[in-house]
Amino acid sequence: MSTQANPRIGIIIGSTRQGRFGDKPARWITDLAGKRTDLDFELIDLRDYSLPFFEEQMSPVYAPPQHPVAQRWAAKLDSLDGFVVVTPEYNHGSTAVLKNALDYAYKEFNRKPIGFVGYGGVGAARSVEHLRMISVELQMAPVRAAVHMGMLEFLGVWQQGKSFSDFPHLEQSAMALLEDMSWWAQALKAARDAQG
Ligand SMILES: Cc1cc2nc3c(=O)[nH]c(=O)nc-3n(C[C@H](O)[C@H](O)[C@H](O)COP(=O)(O)O)c2cc1C
Repeated sequence: MSTQANPRIGIIIGSTRQGRFGDKPARWITDLAGKRTDLDFELIDLRDYSLPFFEEQMSPVYAPPQHPVAQRWAAKLDSLDGFVVVTPEYNHGSTAVLKNALDYAYKEFNRKPIGFVGYGGVGAARSVEHLRMISVELQMAPVRAAVHMGMLEFLGVWQQGKSFSDFPHLEQSAMALLEDMSWWAQALKAARDAQG
């Protein structure tokens, strides 16, 4: 059961390519998150925000983007109190499409928590660390707990007919991540609301 006062968390799928694996971990974490009573969740697909490569005249730090899709993206981010990003790693970093989407907003990210579910080599840890640094520049609070699906889990689910529940440590990590998200989302929402 949820209340209107629950912080709203967007679960962002960080890959848009045809045949992506990202749908599977995104659905998995969304299902687990749905069991919580203290947060509300919404799955956000970057495919629904077909942003051009950044071409605004100014950084969103100084002026809101003019592109209509960017304005729709900013409005969606503004309606949320935190984010869980489901991310692979592309050449040991974030996907370009996700970095571009992060570049397209600023104040809508400020003072909100962000957590990560990574999949790939070393659980996409390099991509997650990269995203943590970027999120600090966007004045977000990256939480400590994260889910890292290494090659065993990633290939097991993708190619060997296994499911995430065959790897119980993943759910343990997910619970820790959601717990962190809850604490930070409540604390930062209260602080933002207090400031008006
Ligand atoms: C451009 C590109 C770069 C990649 N670089 C890495 C990498 O550095 N480390 C890794 O573990 N996997 C890498 N991969 C493999 C991805 O882990 C794999 O393709 C995964 O399915 C990508 O997530 P997606 O299917 O949700 O897009 C790369 C894939 C692409 C397309």
